[in-house]
Amino acid sequence: MSLTAELQRTITHIATAGKGILAADESSATVTKRFGALNIPCTEDTRRRWRDLLITTPNISQFIAGVILYDETLHQNALDNTPFPQKLTQLGILPGIKVDLGLVNLPNTKEEQVTQGLDKLGERLAAYYEKGARFAKWRAVYTVSDILPTPLAIKANAGMLAHYAALCQQNGIVPIVEPEVLLEGSHSLEQCAIASENVLHALFHALHRHKVVLEHIILKPAMVISGKSASPRANVEAVARATVTILRRTVPAAVSTINFLSGGQTPEEATAHLNAMHTLGVALPWNLSYSYARALQDDAMKTWLGKTENVAAAQKAFYRRAKLNSLAATGKYTAAMETEGSVA
Ligand code: G3H
Repeated sequence: MSLTAELQRTITHIATAGKGILAADESSATVTKRFGALNIPCTEDTRRRWRDLLITTPNISQFIAGVILYDETLHQNALDNTPFPQKLTQLGILPGIKVDLGLVNLPNTKEEQVTQGLDKLGERLAAYYEKGARFAKWRAVYTVSDILPTPLAIKANAGMLAHYAALCQQNGIVPIVEPEVLLEGSHSLEQCAIASENVLHALFHALHRHKVVLEHIILKPAMVISGKSASPRANVEAVARATVTILRRTVPAAVSTINFLSGGQTPEEATAHLNAMHTLGVALPWNLSYSYARALQDDAMKTWLGKTENVAAAQKAFYRRAKLNSLAATGKYTAAMETEGSVA
């Protein structure tokens, strides 16, 4: 199969209406934090059991088209001893891999950050392809305040995201391009909208300069939302409207799919916001779906608590939340479903 055909096959699968991506690519340090909050011991084995629980949830491929893995998981076996990438492929789910190597401060800014990992990335991508990965993820972050993000941070991150995306496509891997405008802070919806518009404009200019094929990327932005400690917070309709407005201004229709991160929203908020974007009556030229970590995993992790006897109940919770997001990704979710017994 040609490189182009392979990239197209991957993007067609991921862009299926009503399906999304599970981000299960937390670094071991991040899992330590998430497990720690629930007193779950964090070891290589508990991380493996957690990822196995999610991936082997019966019929989860109805709602999940791809799973982003962390390097450790890509090299581990599921509990039935099948390597995780093969396990996912057997289930009709595409394996993906986080390839960035985390954040460092950008000199001459007020502690803004850029993302590391471009050195030898081509070689790493070729090895990940051999292991079965068909898409990858690189996350850049932007803080919002009265003076941030600066043009310097916006431009530096755009260039790195675009360079990474071009390397992925050269290696038969579809890039998730993730410019995360952070939820932390007390900024208003309007401030977030301005920052998001600037970030996305710079990003798509850089993708053009690096000759990235827009048809073969997955855009993973944050929603346009007021800061976590803003008072008052913008309501669901305002978030949906601002997000769709900014995306329509900045993201060409050639991009087939936009899959949001949840960024610290509660599971209910992330589902409601996504659903509202589909019910505004505004034309959406792309598939608009999810690539959540916390908003998909939280309910299930609180049910599991690291105990084998809770696995079935945790899988039920994960299935339910994935189903609610699948409904939201086609505008068929209602808040009443959060309490109804009808969605199991
Ligand atoms: O890079 C961020 C993750 O892939 C998405 O995580 O949904 O918890 O923000 P989140």
